[in-house]
Amino acid sequence: MRIILIGPPGAGKGTQCQRLVDYLRVPHLSTGEMLRAAVRAGTAEGLAAAHFMAQGQLVPDPMILGLVTKRLEAADCRDGCLLDGFPRTLPQAAMLDDLLDCRAMSVDGVIELAVPRDELVHRMLARKREDDNPEIFAKRIASFEVQTAPLLDYYKRQGKLASIDGLGTADEIFNRVREALRRLKRDS
Ligand code: AP5
Ligand code: MG
Repeated sequence: MRIILIGPPGAGKGTQCQRLVDYLRVPHLSTGEMLRAAVRAGTAEGLAAAHFMAQGQLVPDPMILGLVTKRLEAADCRDGCLLDGFPRTLPQAAMLDDLLDCRAMSVDGVIELAVPRDELVHRMLARKREDDNPEIFAKRIASFEVQTAPLLDYYKRQGKLASIDGLGTADEIFNRVREALRRLKRDS
């Protein structure tokens, strides 16, 4: 299965993907993790991305598309993957559809983790990643609302969206994720 997880910063996309990797036996592709690895390695891509990430802004689409295309073409993604933090803009979603179309593949489902802002801020303050300070976090939330939230409608129109409540323990949410996957499978 090819599944996308969408949600604001701190919604639990990475946390749920850790569980889904074992459940679905497909690799976890997090563009945020890929970018942080590129920054740590000091590659040209990493250096270019670091500036945007530190400001809480999205990295420009062409840079992301290069990164993801290479990864999606790897042999371990042939039978599916978990997309965490990608796509994040309508052009990224259109490009993903094209890329998969050309290979007679498609997105099987999109899971939205819905979490109120107060809880996101609470989780962010407890974690302290480099881009987890209140000012930058507010910008990351704003970029989700303006650039990424329109994707919910995009996938809803394709009949692929399952929205779930992202409040509760990680295990409770994982049960909801599995139920959403069953629904998506049944309806496809
Ligand atoms: P990215 O790394 O994707 O960050 P994000 O979307 O801001 O989301 P997070 O990783 O902060 O949160 P998450 O939803 O994974 O939650 P997590 O499981 O960690 O992107 C970082 C940056 O890279 C972007 O700002 C952008 O600049 C760039 N970028 C990445 N992809 C891009 C793209 N496609 N296009 C352009 N730019 C891109 O959980 C958060 C915390 O809460 C953790 O501490 C966790 O332990 C805790 N937690 C999880 N679940 C629960 C729960 N149920 N209850 C309590 N605590 C919980
Ligand atoms: Mg994450």
